[in-house]
Amino acid sequence: MAERYQVKHSIGVFDSGAGGLSILKALRAELLHENFIYVADSGFAPYGERDAGFVLARARAVSQHMLDAPHLAVQALVIACNTATAAAIHLLRKDHPELPIIGVEPALKPAIALSQTRRIGVMATRGTLNSQKFRALLAGVADQAQFVCQPCDGLADAIERDDVEKIIGLCHQYTGEMGQFGGQAGAIDTLILGCTHYPFARQHLQPLGGPGVRLVDTGGPVARQTRRMLTNPALAATPSQCRLFSTGDPQLLQSAAKRWLGLDVPVQRLQF
Ligand code: DGL
Repeated sequence: MAERYQVKHSIGVFDSGAGGLSILKALRAELLHENFIYVADSGFAPYGERDAGFVLARARAVSQHMLDAPHLAVQALVIACNTATAAAIHLLRKDHPELPIIGVEPALKPAIALSQTRRIGVMATRGTLNSQKFRALLAGVADQAQFVCQPCDGLADAIERDDVEKIIGLCHQYTGEMGQFGGQAGAIDTLILGCTHYPFARQHLQPLGGPGVRLVDTGGPVARQTRRMLTNPALAATPSQCRLFSTGDPQLLQSAAKRWLGLDVPVQRLQF
C-alpha cells in the first residue's frame, strides 16, 4: 500500500505580544490538525502607540524571520494584531504575493448587524484608529451607525503584564469617556474590541457596559477566513503542534498561554 506523506507545514501567527493568543485560540478551535507558530514581538511592544513606519518595519522583520526558517514551512500568515494589519498588510502582501496573508480589523460590520441603538463603541489602539485603513473602513459604514472611537493607551500593555488593578482602572476610564451604555436610545449597546489583547479584559469590560451590551471580537471570523484561504490543509490524522516564540520576556508569553489557552509549552526567545 502506498505511504501517504504529509508535509509538516505550519501557520505563522504574530502580534506585538500575547494579545494575538485570542486569535490563536480561535484558530486552534477551527483548524484542529494544523501546526501553529506564534511569535510575540514583545521586545518591541506596544505597537499601538508607535508610528506606522516602526510597526511596518517590525511586521516585515517578524514575517521574514518566520518565512526564512525552512523547518517551520510556513504556508500562511495570520497578522493577529489590528495595529500591524493597518500598518503593514498591504505591503506584506506585495512582498509575498504567493503567501495567503490574513489580517485582523475592528469588526464594524458585524457590530452594525447586532446593534439596535445604532450607537457603537470602538476600543482600539491609537495606531489603529489613526490609520488610513481604519478611516476608510469607517467611512464605508458611517451612514449606518454612529461610532464612538476610543484610543486605549496603556491597556494592551497592562493586559500583557496581567496587571489587574491597572486593567480595571483603564477599562473604567475608557468606557467612562465613551459615554452612556445600554439598550436605551442614544446609548452604546455594542462594543467592538478592536485590539486582540482586549478579549482578555472581557470580564472587566462586560460589567462596565452592563449585561445587555454586546462585546464583539474577531477571533471566529478570522479563523474561518484562514480556513478558506489554506491551499494545503493538514490531514485529519496529523496531530497539531503549537510552538511559541518571543522577542521579549519568554515568561510573559508562557504564563499568558497557560492562563488563557491552557497551553503549557516552553517559549523560545528570539533575537532579531
Ligand atoms: N494587539 C495589538 C492590536 O490588536 C496591539 C497591542 C499593542 O499596542 O502592541 O492592535
